[in-house]
Amino acid sequence: MSLGRMEGKVAVITGGASGIGKACALRFAQEGADVLIADLVAERCEAAAEEVRRTTNGRALFAETDVSSEDDIAAMAQRAMDEFGHIDCVVAAAGVSSASYVSGSSSSGDGGFNGELLNLPLESCNRVLDINLTGVMLTDRIVARHMVAQGTGGSIVNIASSAARVPLPGAADYSVSKAGVAMLTHVFAMEVAQHNIRVNAIGPGFIATPMTQGLQDDDEGRQMMLGMTPMGRLGTAEEMANTALYLACDESSYTTGQTIYPNGGLYAG
Ligand SMILES: NC(=O)c1ccc[n+]([C@@H]2O[C@H](COP(=O)([O-])OP(=O)(O)OC[C@H]3O[C@@H](n4cnc5c(N)ncnc54)[C@H](O)[C@@H]3O)[C@@H](O)[C@H]2O)c1
Repeated sequence: MSLGRMEGKVAVITGGASGIGKACALRFAQEGADVLIADLVAERCEAAAEEVRRTTNGRALFAETDVSSEDDIAAMAQRAMDEFGHIDCVVAAAGVSSASYVSGSSSSGDGGFNGELLNLPLESCNRVLDINLTGVMLTDRIVARHMVAQGTGGSIVNIASSAARVPLPGAADYSVSKAGVAMLTHVFAMEVAQHNIRVNAIGPGFIATPMTQGLQDDDEGRQMMLGMTPMGRLGTAEEMANTALYLACDESSYTTGQTIYPNGGLYAG
């Protein structure tokens, strides 16, 4: 029997209780990884960890973690070290969006995201940046410090968004946070290449997860997503996990500083 692509590896996954993060935990465990799921609410983390244990041979733990807290991330990484002895991979998937889609909200009568910068409360903007950008930066460096100390290298996979390159009017804070993640990925990759740590990102298009549930349930919102996507369908969390798996495992051993856009052809130039 051939070995799994993540055999012997330990992966920590923020935002691992739902959507893309949970799909990564399941997919990585199918390929032999032990996983630590980090997310906001212990019960949701444990449910995801239990699903991993029930459906794969992988060991799965969780740590209740708010990625906007450096102390929480440090404790989460330490738990992975204490329980598994090493960390080989991190997927930084925790993220939020402050904007929601409102049908017929624009002056032309079309729908749109309701977080126009002109009226965006600073607290809301800061929360998105704290979680989506600073949270990824803190996660990356805290885990990378363990990887440097281990001396065994590692792979970091940040979840950005196609909104890093395609402006989403009404979601300035989100778009800026994700563009920041793409640049962070490039810069950090150059800094830690000497330690054999690779840093890459994924920029999903519109994916069927709880984050887009409001859009999926709204006829106009769904049409907007499909209209922007040449393949004419939403992506799945499993498709994102497969892309993350490629970046996490040794098949991508000469790839670093890249953002891959699995987005059904959504214009990302
Ligand atoms: N769904 C999409 O269409 C889409 C597109 C592009 C990018 N993304 C990105 O993919 C990532 C995963 O999103 P998803 O679609 O799976 O959504 P999701 O809502 O299903 O999952 C996001 C997870 O992040 C967790 N989270 C939120 N704030 C947190 C915090 N402060 N600390 C720890 N965990 C926190 C949530 O509890 C949730 O479990 C996000 O970064 C999102 O921005 C999603």
